[in-house]
Amino acid sequence: MIMPLLTWNENMMIGIQSIDNQHQRWIDLINDLHETMQRGKGSEAINQTLASMLDYTRVHFSDEEKLLSTHSYPGYVQHKQLHDGFINRIKELQDRLQKGHIILTISVMKSLRDWLKNHIQKVDRQYAPFLKSKGIV
Ligand SMILES: [Fe+2]
Ligand SMILES: [Fe+2]
Repeated sequence: MIMPLLTWNENMMIGIQSIDNQHQRWIDLINDLHETMQRGKGSEAINQTLASMLDYTRVHFSDEEKLLSTHSYPGYVQHKQLHDGFINRIKELQDRLQKGHIILTISVMKSLRDWLKNHIQKVDRQYAPFLKSKGIV
């Protein structure tokens, strides 16, 4: 049995249902990638799982950004920059993996996990009171 890289817990809950649900799905996908790596699956499986993770990251970021821009969140631009930076980082990782320049390691996985956890707990959490004040639950 492979331990999940990141387990959802209430510290990661920001209190907006649709976002909390997406964050849980996002965590499932990073755990899938970790499991694929830990089970020693080939690069094809890793590339596929990473592509699913990247796709869902895009969906989640874009939904979140829509919500923030619709309500004119003051930290929108900065928040989007953090999202874009992470997308670029995953794309670069994907590119280097596909070219066979690197392999996926636990330390790479841990750094993705740390980004995700920090982003949910510290950055996303900051907009929660703002959105709640706009009636988003
Ligand atoms: Fe975010
Ligand atoms: Fe988020």
